Amino acid sequence: MLIPSWERIEKCVSDVRKKTDFVPELALVLGSGLGDFAESAEAVAVVNYSEIDGFPVSTVPGHKGRFFFGYVEGVKCVIMQGRVHYYEGYTMEEVVLPVRLMNALGAETLFLTNAAGGISPTFSAGDFMLINGHISSFVPSPLIGKNIDRLGVRFPDMSEVYDKNLREIIKQSASEQNIALKEGVYVQLTGPNFETPQEIKMLSMLGADAVGMSTVCEAVAAKHAGMSVCGISCISNLAAGISKTPLSHAEVSETADRVAPDFKRLISASVKKMKK
Ligand code: HPA
Repeated sequence: MLIPSWERIEKCVSDVRKKTDFVPELALVLGSGLGDFAESAEAVAVVNYSEIDGFPVSTVPGHKGRFFFGYVEGVKCVIMQGRVHYYEGYTMEEVVLPVRLMNALGAETLFLTNAAGGISPTFSAGDFMLINGHISSFVPSPLIGKNIDRLGVRFPDMSEVYDKNLREIIKQSASEQNIALKEGVYVQLTGPNFETPQEIKMLSMLGADAVGMSTVCEAVAAKHAGMSVCGISCISNLAAGISKTPLSHAEVSETADRVAPDFKRLISASVKKMKK
């Protein structure tokens, strides 16, 4: 295991700085179906994860594996085209390294997106859910191990991980764009297997509205580091037992691709309002 340390993050920063001196204000993580969002932005530089020494590389089909630096609606952004997941075999420290790196490069706001299974009976496939809280108890904390004091405190507060002002901005943007926006609690499980109907019933009783295999660990690491965090899930399918058909990655991708134009519009409109 690679030891999480400030020195490791600094080394990644220096690898990126060999290619660009761009200082982003906002970091955007693109989930399934959104990989090409960056293509509509104004590019300044691209850095492949493979160009950063010791950096985790995504193995999921459809995840590109690079940082895109440029302007979205005039806002200086670093966009992660493809994230790494815990189920790929990386440690939690490695999974959150990209978020810590984007923060160290200058980004103070983190905008997370993902595809998720819908648990709430009010959700349909293709809906968007503003994340207003999360349940992290089914995956290890990315903060386990020696605390990196340069990033944050040993016992960080998680009372409000998803910033209220950013949530208001996203709600307002959705309404202006005539895009329906649901709201709810996201729970992260390890994956890679989808859940059983029994697990979905349990998660529902615990108060989860959507389930996925990412995002929460990134939000925790970002909050630890003092970033302002927000996130939106694309409900790509109804969760196991609620859906009448077996779940598949193909279904997740198909729905995510189908609603991607609206998702991109919502992200652009929201980012525009997040300019500092
Ligand atoms: N479960 C877990 N992760 C997911 C799902 C799901 O139903 N859909 C998309 N990601």
